[in-house]
Amino acid sequence: MSIPANFRILPLRDADIEPVCALAREIWLQHYPGIITVAQIEYMLAQRYSPDAIRMQLQAGEAWWDKLEVDGELCGFASYEHGVEAHTMKLDKLYVHQLFRGKGYGAALMEHVAKAAERQDMDTLYLQVNKYNHGSVAAYLRTGFRVAKTVKVDIGNGFFMDDYVMEKNVRREAKMRERCT
Ligand SMILES: CC(C)(COP(=O)(O)OP(=O)(O)OC[C@H]1O[C@@H](n2cnc3c(N)ncnc32)[C@H](O)[C@@H]1OP(=O)(O)O)[C@@H](O)C(=O)NCCC(=O)NCCS
Repeated sequence: MSIPANFRILPLRDADIEPVCALAREIWLQHYPGIITVAQIEYMLAQRYSPDAIRMQLQAGEAWWDKLEVDGELCGFASYEHGVEAHTMKLDKLYVHQLFRGKGYGAALMEHVAKAAERQDMDTLYLQVNKYNHGSVAAYLRTGFRVAKTVKVDIGNGFFMDDYVMEKNVRREAKMRERCT
């Protein structure tokens, strides 16, 4: 896919936190009804997208957040953190606004995160995605992830995440890229 040149991926600054929370809310309310209930969406938004929670993560250096800008407009974001196992990185969040999907931006964010993982000497980049989030599962398969296992995670208040864990070997990918250049 040829990706438009008018985009930038930049680290999240304090001033970006509230706009990212607003963007997350818009995307979640557009995308997740039909996959999870609106009650679960609200619960997960409150857990994951409070400005204070993101600020604390950034200040503690527990996670990296990057924003996607197209023509200077905030259109998406990704966050990632060290995984549970040694030499693994978890892609924790990946979101592109619905008007900007299917143009290569999601793949650009994934590549950006994969390169960050390689730079930190990781072997594996993994993520969790709802099993019924079919479009996003397809996008991950197209970008080199494979389903490693399924998990059902109790997130409290009677809600569960019914997910695939998907992963890819970023070290092998980097070696293949080297051979091709
Ligand atoms: C998942 C997501 C980030 C992908 O971003 P995107 O910008 O649309 O993806 P791209 O345009 O870079 O596409 C990457 C590849 O996946 C494919 N793809 C993307 N969306 C797809 C879909 N809905 N169905 C099938 N394939 C899809 C593209 O065709 C492309 O493959 P190709 O290069 O071989 O043609 C975006 O769809 C999104 O934000 N979804 C809603 C939120 C979400 O579910 N996030 C993931 C949470 S775990």
